[in-house]
Amino acid sequence: ASLKPWHTLGFDVKAKGIVNVYSEADIFHVLSFAKQQGLSVLPLGEGSNTIFAKDFAGIVMRVCIQGRRIEQGVDGRLMVYGAAGESWHSFVRWTLAQGAYGLENLSLIPGTVGASPIQNIGAYGVEVKDVIDWVRYIDIASGEVIQLSASDCLFGYRDSIFKQQLRDQIVITEVAFRLSSVFTPNLSYAGLQGSHAADALQLSDYIVGVRKAKLPDPQTLGNVGSFFKNPVIPAEHYQVLKEKFPNLVAYPAEDGYWKLAAGWLIDQCGFKGTRKGNVGVYKHQALVLVHFGEGCVADLLSLAWDIQQQVWLRFSVRMEIEPRIYPQ
Ligand code: FAD
Ligand code: EPU
Repeated sequence: ASLKPWHTLGFDVKAKGIVNVYSEADIFHVLSFAKQQGLSVLPLGEGSNTIFAKDFAGIVMRVCIQGRRIEQGVDGRLMVYGAAGESWHSFVRWTLAQGAYGLENLSLIPGTVGASPIQNIGAYGVEVKDVIDWVRYIDIASGEVIQLSASDCLFGYRDSIFKQQLRDQIVITEVAFRLSSVFTPNLSYAGLQGSHAADALQLSDYIVGVRKAKLPDPQTLGNVGSFFKNPVIPAEHYQVLKEKFPNLVAYPAEDGYWKLAAGWLIDQCGFKGTRKGNVGVYKHQALVLVHFGEGCVADLLSLAWDIQQQVWLRFSVRMEIEPRIYPQ
């Protein structure tokens, strides 16, 4: 079966089987079938952060479980529960309409609720780890159901236990968020100060506008958002670069480290808006690689490699690919 409709890069790659699951019971059913057949299982949300480097020799399980509810928490907070298959942006908008605040800066990020903890999605000064309470998952090998508290998820910048120790070993079925009944706008990210948002829905609308101006809509142009992580480098390296490149875009990170804007590095190397066959570098944001259609994944990975080489030669900075690549 073709995976083309099920991942936002839209390459025509195949899986041995593709199945939709709507409940935990469905998941157990698929897991036992796969075990019997000796096939591996890969959970997938909307495929907006996934690259299939070649055909997948197992079962792709599209997690479609729906459901959301809200409860008064003990400490004046609102507990909000989202099933893994809920679409992220409509979930965010629903929380805001309920008067539950905290996710507004994460508006319009593609994908599902279930994938949100995997790379600890972040945008405009907020990371989802700031409001996650726990993550419920099924262990693929043992079938055990586990509710992991946020403090055990080892969240970091575009990172978590689900991308490391538990990588490909679990299926997330539900995420619980601790939100606030009071709207406290977070306008720390450059460019948000001018939003003049009177309420959370307005701030969400503003962020939607900013994102639409910079990022391609995966419905019309294949992409997975940022292709690389923003590199984090030690202060000494930052000083050397800053001296050589006074316009360097960088932000102070933890422990004296600096986070560089990878988009700026790529832009400086002249890649922005360039095309290589049917793939290229997005004209409004150099950190996003795009597929114009009828291209193949090898072209995309080769372009990514060219970019990594040029950035390394010019800045001595190593750039790590952000989306998940299968097979590894
Ligand atoms: P998928 O691509 O389907 O899956 C990603 C990984 O998670 C895979 O390894 C998959 O196996 C695993 N997975 C998915 N669901 C489950 C589950 N239920 N259980 C276990 N494993 C699972 N990300 C940001 O952080 N910030 C941004 O601002 C941002 N902007 C983006 C803009 C665009 C235009 C695009 C295309 C992407 C952007 N992204 C951004 C990346 C992407 O939206 C997020 O990573 C999102 O969380 C992916 O969700 P998904 O459901 O599509 O995941
Ligand atoms: N820049 C350029 N040229 C470019 C692109 C960027 O010079 O072509 C410079 C500009 O100075 C700009 C700065 O880089 O001000 C930062 O750019 P932007 O605000 O677009 O953010 P980013 O660092 O490129 C990160 C995330 C995005 C997230 C935005 C907003 C990563 C890898 N990416 O991008 O997340 O939406 O910040 O918070 O951290 C994603 O993960 O897929 C993603 C889109």
